[in-house]
Amino acid sequence: MRGQPPIPLPETIQVEYEPYQESTQLARYIQDYPRSFTRNPSQPLIRRPLTLSERTGPIALERRLAIDGEDISSKEPGGPRAIGQFIAVTGRVMDEDGAPLARAVIEIWQANSAGKYVHELDRHQAPIDSNFTGLGRFVTGAEGQYKFLSIKPGAYPVMESDWWWRPPHIHFSIFGPSWMNRYVTQIFFPGEPLNETDLLLNAVQDPEARDRLIFETTPTTVGAVNLLTFRRDFVLRGKRSTPALD
Ligand SMILES: [Fe+2]
Repeated sequence: MRGQPPIPLPETIQVEYEPYQESTQLARYIQDYPRSFTRNPSQPLIRRPLTLSERTGPIALERRLAIDGEDISSKEPGGPRAIGQFIAVTGRVMDEDGAPLARAVIEIWQANSAGKYVHELDRHQAPIDSNFTGLGRFVTGAEGQYKFLSIKPGAYPVMESDWWWRPPHIHFSIFGPSWMNRYVTQIFFPGEPLNETDLLLNAVQDPEARDRLIFETTPTTVGAVNLLTFRRDFVLRGKRSTPALD
């Protein structure tokens, strides 16, 4: 507010954020993907100083959200499970120095096993699963860890660009301690043939950065619940940061 002394910030968030390396991020303009041209600024970006609104973020969300993860493989706890391959997705969220980020907010959304989203704009002619919303929201635990149960999503066509097909993927939005840590991305499944032709995944130039967008497999076991487990750690910023993909 004008005339008010500036509010002192806690030491831990008095940090400078390194700019992203372009080669590790999604290309701004993707040939054959017209949406990339309308979603991005046509003028050069202007640098401006960070203020309190970028250096802070939502707090105490653990009062309202589940800690560590949740089960979205059914619509209600204990309800019938959605159709498809039962999976667990696990990992850790870290800051750019590799320190775990407790209470980072993770939001996920995904298609069902037939490649259909519960969304009015989804025009894919595939069935809705009445036991599946594909939506989740929770916070990481004390060591930055998370784990959620779900169903492996199916591939789906993009209704433009000659019926380009998206490989199976899960969308993630992650909030660290400040809005500057927030990013949105998509994580893909290993060994999927459609990964080779996906316009978004392949619009990240750096091959190592692309690898950070693919789940790791974990040893398979048969136990009380039979599920396939995939792992993905996230680094919110810095040299090893997970690329943003929207
Ligand atoms: Fe998607």
